[in-house]
Amino acid sequence: MDNSEMGLSLGNQREAALDRTAQHVLHAWKEFDTARERESIPSESLRLLLNSPLPSVGSDVLDVIDQAVEILDSSLAQSRPRYFAFIGSSGLEVGALADLLAHSYDTNLAVDAGAATELEWQSVSWLAQFIGYPAQTGTFTSGGTISNITALASAREAAIPGARERGLGGFHPTLYCSTEAHYSITRAAEVLGIGATNVRVVDIDAQRRMRPDVLRELLQRDMDNGCTPVAIVATTGTTLTGAVDPIEQLADIAEEFGVWLHVDGAYGVPAAAVTSRAYLFAGLDRVNSVTVDCHKWMFVPKACSAVLVRDAASLASVFSHDEAYMPHAGGHYNAVDITLEYSRPFRALKLWMLFSTHGASAVREAIERNCDQAQMLFDWMQRRPLFETLSSRPQLSIVPLRVVVEGCTDRDLHNDALCSAIQRDGRVYVSPATIDGHVWLRPCFTNFRTTSGDVAALLDVAEELGAVCRTLHS
Ligand SMILES: Cc1ncc(COP(=O)(O)O)c(C=O)c1O
Repeated sequence: MDNSEMGLSLGNQREAALDRTAQHVLHAWKEFDTARERESIPSESLRLLLNSPLPSVGSDVLDVIDQAVEILDSSLAQSRPRYFAFIGSSGLEVGALADLLAHSYDTNLAVDAGAATELEWQSVSWLAQFIGYPAQTGTFTSGGTISNITALASAREAAIPGARERGLGGFHPTLYCSTEAHYSITRAAEVLGIGATNVRVVDIDAQRRMRPDVLRELLQRDMDNGCTPVAIVATTGTTLTGAVDPIEQLADIAEEFGVWLHVDGAYGVPAAAVTSRAYLFAGLDRVNSVTVDCHKWMFVPKACSAVLVRDAASLASVFSHDEAYMPHAGGHYNAVDITLEYSRPFRALKLWMLFSTHGASAVREAIERNCDQAQMLFDWMQRRPLFETLSSRPQLSIVPLRVVVEGCTDRDLHNDALCSAIQRDGRVYVSPATIDGHVWLRPCFTNFRTTSGDVAALLDVAEELGAVCRTLHS
């Protein structure tokens, strides 16, 4: 075949394109090993490129690869060791290779794809073993939001059998989570017809965990009033502060009231595998479903989440269906019978390659290191009078902090301005959060590349930029 017949293939430029990409990736991986001095700002030529019209004729692929890398290099990369904002992922090298392989074969996990489907089952089982959850089955999704919606759709069907067909008419469904639960729980209530106002927001204790006594009162009151509780959602740990709700006590209540218990462990549940943190997750084996974001604290690139369930039939009860174009060979379910999505990429491969290449112990150690970094940061701040911390120690790897300058009349304004100044400065990257009405900086450690030196840099930069009120705001 000559090049004119190759259509959209790279033809005789394949090797050169792969080589060029490999060089760029190698350079990036080496660069990610240590922090860079400043974030790079998009050049004028890049800005022009990003405003150019639709090209009707293509350009040389090597130039296009270089342009793509320049765009990436001028963007925030969560892979960098001093990215402490939100809950980052860390662009695990074998994860990136897995994505290249999976996307090259473009396997579709909607129906049985052969060995890839078997690998997906195996990965579900490995993940469940890793966190210590007796899952009968599970599935990979695009993120914690979809995993939570998937689990809560099953919970709704369990609470109100036939709801998927008849709707919720005649029922008053309710959902229970703590004040620190992620917004995806409210979103699930919205899209599942439960309704955002029927999400009962349960008070938290001094360690910011859901209070079982308040939950019990709310459940009892709602049941006395004829409501149908769909699920209790325990968050382990919360997005705001990393608090881990007391699963064991919530499981007792869930069993007593006959309500589904879901664990939103999108961020924190991988820490159940770590010796020093496992006690926080006691009772995990009793819950109905668990969300785990592998693209958070399992280090693989986005997008890769998983929802695990104790009873395989619970997912099928809400998602299974029969269509003329979807064969059920041998009466087996397809993945589309237990998932919200149809076409699905081969997300499991990156988790499988993580465990196969590095082993579960190395993953545990990386999570443990992040937990240690959180404790270290908290302890350092007790000795540096400029910093304020929450009263309780970090449970996982989020450590909210404030800079308190003597004489500064508006601490919220100061810390808000400090966060913007840190982001502009570019040596470390951290995001703000509002906790109990006040502005905090909220570093989160979920990157295997982060060292204790990187953690120290965060304090040094915050001290340097935040020590004087006048320079930040007036
Ligand atoms: C506790 C928790 N649940 C759910 C989510 C949503 O996850 P995703 O962004 O993967 O949809 C997050 C995101 O940070 C989270 O922290």
